[in-house]
Amino acid sequence: PRPILLTRHGESLDNVRGQIGGDSSLSEAGLLYSRKLASFIEKRLASERTASVSVPFVTCNLERNIFIELFVRYLIQIWTSTLQRSILTAHPIIGFPKIQWRALDEINAGICDGMTYDEVKKSKPEEYESRGKDKLRYRYPRGESYLDVIQRLETVIIELERQRAPVVVISHQAVLRALYAYLADRPLEELPNIEIPLHTIIEIQMGVAGVQEKRYKLMD
Ligand code: F6P
Repeated sequence: PRPILLTRHGESLDNVRGQIGGDSSLSEAGLLYSRKLASFIEKRLASERTASVSVPFVTCNLERNIFIELFVRYLIQIWTSTLQRSILTAHPIIGFPKIQWRALDEINAGICDGMTYDEVKKSKPEEYESRGKDKLRYRYPRGESYLDVIQRLETVIIELERQRAPVVVISHQAVLRALYAYLADRPLEELPNIEIPLHTIIEIQMGVAGVQEKRYKLMD
């Protein structure tokens, strides 16, 4: 079985300020994580790299497009969102193709984007309360709900399942809750509160025996 590695971006400046959403860059700690992540991936996937590139050569006599598609499927890939903090976290990783997905962008907090939870509670108490009551279905005005996020991840999941080589997904808290819940087969109602800490890699292996999970905490 091939591993799928999930991680949030390194700590961002918005994380430090406690602001949700936004498109800030990384804090010093976040930058340090990006370097630790790169060396972790280099070591963890070194053996998988030789295994995965040797397979497609068997398919040389196939039509060119099919060959390319198959070849790409056997390459270890780094998937990020289109947001700075995710792209910057992938930056020190070299030697693997990187793909940016808008579908991996963080949940859109609409009118609450850029606020802290305290600010939302004070200035929009009805919104705060509705979200608290049903976090899964609550949709931020002019933004998204967890159910919306799950829906937009469908294409990502299809591609993830077609891939034959390991994939490293560098994304965001809400999006990774949804991806993780799908991969680890966790119930929908639990999904919005699943622990996806910063600076931790969740490795998932899907084999015949079921799903196996390992967590690597690279720093606090
Ligand atoms: O706080 C970081 C963050 O990624 C925000 O950008 C996002 O709104 C939030 O987490 C999602 O988590 P929750 O659904 O628990 O608010």
